[in-house]
Amino acid sequence: MARKKVIAGNWKMNMTASEGAQLIADLKATCGGNCCCCCAPEVMVFPPFTTIAAVQEAAKGTPLVVGAQNVHWAANGAFTGEISAKMLVEMGVTHVIIGHSERRQYFGETDETVNQRVKAALAAGLKVILCIGETLEEREKGVTEAVIEKQVLWDLADVSMEQLDNVILAYEPVWAIGTGKTATNEQAQAVHAFIRALIEKHFCPVCAGKIRILYGGSMKPANAEGLLAQPDIDGGLIGGAALKAADFVALVKAASATC
Ligand code: PGA
Repeated sequence: MARKKVIAGNWKMNMTASEGAQLIADLKATCGGNCCCCCAPEVMVFPPFTTIAAVQEAAKGTPLVVGAQNVHWAANGAFTGEISAKMLVEMGVTHVIIGHSERRQYFGETDETVNQRVKAALAAGLKVILCIGETLEEREKGVTEAVIEKQVLWDLADVSMEQLDNVILAYEPVWAIGTGKTATNEQAQAVHAFIRALIEKHFCPVCAGKIRILYGGSMKPANAEGLLAQPDIDGGLIGGAALKAADFVALVKAASATC
């Protein structure tokens, strides 16, 4: 089954509103104004909450998807510093990243809270990019598959087969994020195939054939083509290289070339 590739830029805590609008202007200029419409992949950017509105405005008239980097599970309430799905939906946000390893590492995010966020986002009609991946220690101990299986099971607990249509997975080995170390094509493909098999086992074969699984962790123009050519890699979740218009456009083009 053909799966539409996705190139998604996770801006993390970078780009003020004005800087974000400028980056979108640079992206448009770099692709001659029609970067996202002529290319096959879905192209997405995930700016900080305070930059979203400016990026939406700058991206008007293009098919660029503008998403958020996190969401809380409650509709509202005494949760200082959090943002609800309802708030995102009202501002026209359609996609949200959940469970990024930086949230798990630095902000106490657990599989349980990731699952709560996933369920709330899906119930509100948002599409989710769910991040999973093992640490270096876990890889060296040989428990990568066990870690990934636990994350898939917990993070997607109580998610229905129908809801899974609104989930994109991102396999991001923690040791490859922001480190310049990329998983080899073979290492990444092996885990992606394993994840697809888990979806088949715990959901259904059709679900496994349809779900997009992105690779994340130091993806850049120099290594993207090899990764994107793997049969179970359906795109990339990109940090550092998403902050430079030329690099991000090169990644979009690499994904178009491998469609
Ligand atoms: P990186 O980040 O491309 O800078 O490694 C990827 C991510 O954290 O999503």
